[in-house]
Amino acid sequence: MKLDIRSNTLAQASGITTDALIILWSQDAKESGELAQWISLALRKEDFRDNAGAVLQSYGMPGVKARHVLAVSVGKGQTGELRKAIRAAWTALQGKPIRALHIQWVGPAASPETLTWLLTELADVSYVYASTLSKPQHRKLAKVVMGQPQVSPAQAQAVARAQALVQGIELAKEWANRPGNHATPNHLAQAARALARRPGIQCKVLGPREVERLGMGAFLAVARGAAEPLRFIVLEYKSRKAQAAPVVLVGKGITFDTGGISIKPAAEMDEMKFDMSGAASVLGVFEALSQLQPELHVVGLIPATENMPDGQAIKPGDVVTSMSGQTIEILNTDAEGRLVLCDALCYAARYKPAAVIDIATLTGACVIALGGVRTGLFSPDDELAQALMRAGESSQDLCWRMPLDDEYAEGLKSRFADVANVAGRAAGSVTAAKFLQRFTGEFAWAHLDIAGTAWRSGANKGATGRPVALLLEYLLSLRGRTAPGPSARSRSPKA
Ligand code: BES
Ligand code: MN
Ligand code: ZN
Repeated sequence: MKLDIRSNTLAQASGITTDALIILWSQDAKESGELAQWISLALRKEDFRDNAGAVLQSYGMPGVKARHVLAVSVGKGQTGELRKAIRAAWTALQGKPIRALHIQWVGPAASPETLTWLLTELADVSYVYASTLSKPQHRKLAKVVMGQPQVSPAQAQAVARAQALVQGIELAKEWANRPGNHATPNHLAQAARALARRPGIQCKVLGPREVERLGMGAFLAVARGAAEPLRFIVLEYKSRKAQAAPVVLVGKGITFDTGGISIKPAAEMDEMKFDMSGAASVLGVFEALSQLQPELHVVGLIPATENMPDGQAIKPGDVVTSMSGQTIEILNTDAEGRLVLCDALCYAARYKPAAVIDIATLTGACVIALGGVRTGLFSPDDELAQALMRAGESSQDLCWRMPLDDEYAEGLKSRFADVANVAGRAAGSVTAAKFLQRFTGEFAWAHLDIAGTAWRSGANKGATGRPVALLLEYLLSLRGRTAPGPSARSRSPKA
């Protein structure tokens, strides 16, 4: 889907050749001309309303080149209202062969963020999954132009960024949506290798033997039950001039999570194909970076394996030695995400990173705590946490900071190893984060639990592509500085 922006007035929009003209009408719109009169009359007659999501539709309007003309209210233009408006417009056009869209913004100049939200929202509603259907209905929409009377450089830049972001989000969705037999660790490695054909990106893929040589006993333990061989994927993006220590992104890549010997119930187990959404978001970020070529240094680490029950599989009570040397008593084989991540976090230290962010569909408890609205953000580093919170707000890919008090680690004590891989049921997302924190001594670290936000369940089951937008926003905010944020690093006393 190609995104563009051009300067034109509402009156000029009539003369634009496109399949559908969507007029986003703000409460503060001041416009004249025939289209504005059409809308004003409908407003007076109450056939059209100025609350967000209201739609006025016409077909084959004389004097207008677009077949479909839609006026859609955006209310005051707040994010929730914009979302409603875009969804309503797309619903009104559902099933129609729309290849090109012109979106005319009518109201006070749209901020760069507004443009990005509008375009990512439109991309989200119009996304079509096609890879495993014999007769796929591919997305028809190929071109979207934003029209405004005047286009500032910041707005043009926002559209270019939205273009890269959408491609990143859609790569993440694509991989997360693919079923386990079409998204194996090796498939993910191939996707990473394909990214490494772009300028500035390099990729290295390690197999079982190399991972064993590194001493990643926790990662290997999860992979024991799987017939598909594990992969440890290392991506690196470095612009020519970038000198700074890298930001390392670590994505959980469980390509299917049965739970292992601590097997999950059958109902809805298919949803565990989304358990590599963290990995998919790392691929998505690299896709966007390859498009934008920003002045940055970013490393992506993906420990990828299935979690399967088998004669070879790890058993509850087994003790394994992680790459860090710490021994772990695996009391529940379904708490496998933290096992693959702890070795990847330990590996991350070799980059002497400015910051390390892991992204994982880690706990059902996080879904209970925050639902599908905000990602769980855990970090002992105030500055990094605040930078990620801000990035979440400005990209509208929201997160919420959770606590990391040491008292939460009590339940992880073990008589038979340095640490157990699970604590009790209470505060499950926090105890999981406390487990990970043991492996992050040397760098600024944040953990994003995306179990609730990476995909939607129910009839419209599917990946959301989150938190690609948040991560890209954070990374781009670092250009010309060293991570994690604008001022010196600070650690909160409790952490
Ligand atoms: N992949 C799951 C977490 C998950 C659950 C993600 C539901 C999305 C929706 C993870 O590997 C897991 O099974 N976690 C367990 C941990 C427990 C055994 C301590 C969980 O949340 O039940
Ligand atoms: Mn699990
Ligand atoms: Zn899992």
